[in-house]
Amino acid sequence: MSGYHVAVLGATGAVGTKMLEMLEEATFPIASVKLLASKRSAGKVLSFKGQDIVIEETIPDSFVGVDIALFSAGGSISKEFAPEAVKRGAVVIDNTSAYRMDVDVPLVVPEVNEAALHTHQGIIANPNCSTIQMMVALEPVRKKYGLSRIIVSTYQAVSGAGISAINELKEQAQQMLNDEPVEAHILPAGGDKKHFPIAFNALPQIDVFSDAGYTYEEWKMMNETKKIMEDETIKVAATCVRIPVVSGHSESVYFEVKDNSATVFGIKHELEHAPGVILQDDPESQLYPTALTSVGKKETFVGRLRKDLDEELGFHMWVVSDNLLKGAAWNSVEIAESLHKLDLVRVPK
Ligand code: A2P
Repeated sequence: MSGYHVAVLGATGAVGTKMLEMLEEATFPIASVKLLASKRSAGKVLSFKGQDIVIEETIPDSFVGVDIALFSAGGSISKEFAPEAVKRGAVVIDNTSAYRMDVDVPLVVPEVNEAALHTHQGIIANPNCSTIQMMVALEPVRKKYGLSRIIVSTYQAVSGAGISAINELKEQAQQMLNDEPVEAHILPAGGDKKHFPIAFNALPQIDVFSDAGYTYEEWKMMNETKKIMEDETIKVAATCVRIPVVSGHSESVYFEVKDNSATVFGIKHELEHAPGVILQDDPESQLYPTALTSVGKKETFVGRLRKDLDEELGFHMWVVSDNLLKGAAWNSVEIAESLHKLDLVRVPK
């Protein structure tokens, strides 16, 4: 059979299993799929298009004969295996933060900066889930009216922290309902000293703290936005919050445009015609997207668009997307589709 040989590293994870589902729906030709995970999962079986595929332990030679490798097994695994995969001729689409800010690595949301793929040297980075949906919703505004400032607050689902975080939410919810003591082991950040319950709670920390009082997740949103929009002058501030939702990230986005001819009507017009956006905005009939609206969908949903009452160039909107799909698995598979379309599935010599 002709087509690409595709590997998924992290195939058993929250994102990896969705990558497999998205590959089933992909339009580029696939000759074979290889599933990779840790030694723990080797020998287990997952199904792709009705065929059983045995999961293999990841070793450097796993990538011999692979054309496209989708990585989602954590940053340290990407650091270890991405160079090995590229050495063996595979183009890596990495869903971790390991390479996102490398100058040689394009950071791509196909609706926004597909052309950046032309510069790839073997590794392409998939942006942070919260950044992706914000870019899809803001790029049509930026193109028409320019953007000078973004202030975003996120309401992020636990699946962004992996399967173990989903299990923690479910177990804690059950413990709360049973009036039992609640145990917290993972959130807000697996690598941090303290853990707090996520069930019936809201945690203003995603990932560990970094410079200037911002968390890494917040830094990711701020830095990645400037890289994807190729504009260091956009002012960006983020506050990232984890809430007890399984899937679907929501964001309250305040933005300031450069062009004072911008109106709510005009911005809605741009969003209605923007790739990957579904506008659901009618307060009269209580039409707006919720986290559940987005689950299982590839698009980014926008609602509650309104003008700021004090700032002439300021607007607010509510942006929702399935963090495992557009925020991760679908964006990665979409990058593979773009690579195929642009004839870029090859590692430059
Ligand atoms: P495994 O299930 O074998 O541990 P999540 O983000 O949902 O926690 O998933 C993490 C993914 O990363 C899983 O597929 C997991 O596989 C994979 N993974 C973890 N450690 C390794 C490793 N050392 N080598 C390869 N894959 C790994």
